[in-house]
Amino acid sequence: MLRSGSCARPTIFALLALSVALQPLSAGSPPSIWEGSAVESVRWMPTGTALISGSDDLTVRVWNASTGQSLQILAGHTDTVWSVASSPDGKHIASCSADLTVRIWDATTGKCLHTLAGHTDDVRAVSYSPDAKTVASGGWDHVVKIWDTATGGCLQTLQGHKNDVWSVAYSPDGKRLASGSSDRSIKIWDLATGQCLQTLRGHRDYVRSVVYSPDGAHILSGSDDQAVKLWDAAQGTCLRTLRGHSYYVWSVAFRPDGRRVASGSWDKTIKVWDPVSGKCLQTLTGHTDVIDSVAYSPDGTLASGSDDGSIRTWDPNSTNHRIFNAASEGLTRKPRQSKSKAGKAVEVVL
Ligand SMILES: *[C@@H]1O[C@H](CO)[C@@H](O)[C@H](O)[C@H]1NC(C)=O
Ligand SMILES: *[C@@H]1O[C@H](CO)[C@@H](O)[C@H](O)[C@H]1NC(C)=O
Repeated sequence: MLRSGSCARPTIFALLALSVALQPLSAGSPPSIWEGSAVESVRWMPTGTALISGSDDLTVRVWNASTGQSLQILAGHTDTVWSVASSPDGKHIASCSADLTVRIWDATTGKCLHTLAGHTDDVRAVSYSPDAKTVASGGWDHVVKIWDTATGGCLQTLQGHKNDVWSVAYSPDGKRLASGSSDRSIKIWDLATGQCLQTLRGHRDYVRSVVYSPDGAHILSGSDDQAVKLWDAAQGTCLRTLRGHSYYVWSVAFRPDGRRVASGSWDKTIKVWDPVSGKCLQTLTGHTDVIDSVAYSPDGTLASGSDDGSIRTWDPNSTNHRIFNAASEGLTRKPRQSKSKAGKAVEVVL
């Protein structure tokens, strides 16, 4: 029987503490004042044994998911790293940043292979295509770009959103792309033609996160209207609205078996839902600041990244409650970047 707050919190690691304690910082490492800063994005490597994070400290980091040890620090971005993604084979990592670029990295050597320039404002979202041949990026310049991962060239620029793009997701067959925007809509694009096939409306505020279900039949979205919505990907209709969060929902994720979904919110909690019944099964607490990112591993372990400077992994089977929290270590946080994360600067009239 699952109840609110019953989930164990066995593995929590923090950017500062572990990068200092376990990883001798090399000459190329960023200044220590930026460590322990907000974790904007967390993703699993396809093996499920390592995690990638993007942070306000300008780095992309690879972590051993069982020990929390830092495996790799990818330095090169010159502003907040908003989002990270692994290639399906785990050989490459894509990242995007407030420095207007997308970077493609060799995950083994940590070398930057391509710097993709073309966006004219923060690049907020990045995603790898299932065949690894392209990456998609979404920016505060309102456009989605499709890039060739081999050459680093821009293949397509998808225009249609009327405000910042916050999230992009390929369909599992790689034929479609979903994008979520501050214009409160989700657009579904045909990648063969670059045409917008559908515009999904229903959220009453910024759409911060969109993902496809593993079978491609559904789209899940999270919004500042505090709701999580499940959509029929073919019809573009809203099937269910999951309510329970008390603040913005910034990140949503499908468990790989498709039977659970998770949402991470600025109310500092993660909720795990049954997408069929729409019931909230668990509320995971522990983060001491807003949650920006949630991701499921291949075996269904949830990871989360927060402005509290920590990444946490949540094993629903464990009863171990070991907590290690950056915030309790008295870390100083880097002041907020220029544009407010709440990103409410641009109002939308629909
Ligand atoms: C993580 O650390 C454990 C224990 O040292 C090790 O056995 C495992 O291979 C490491 N995994 C990765 C992906 O580095
Ligand atoms: C949790 O337990 C179930 C049932 O025993 C198992 O199938 C699953 O792999 C476990 N998950 C993790 C993350 O250990």
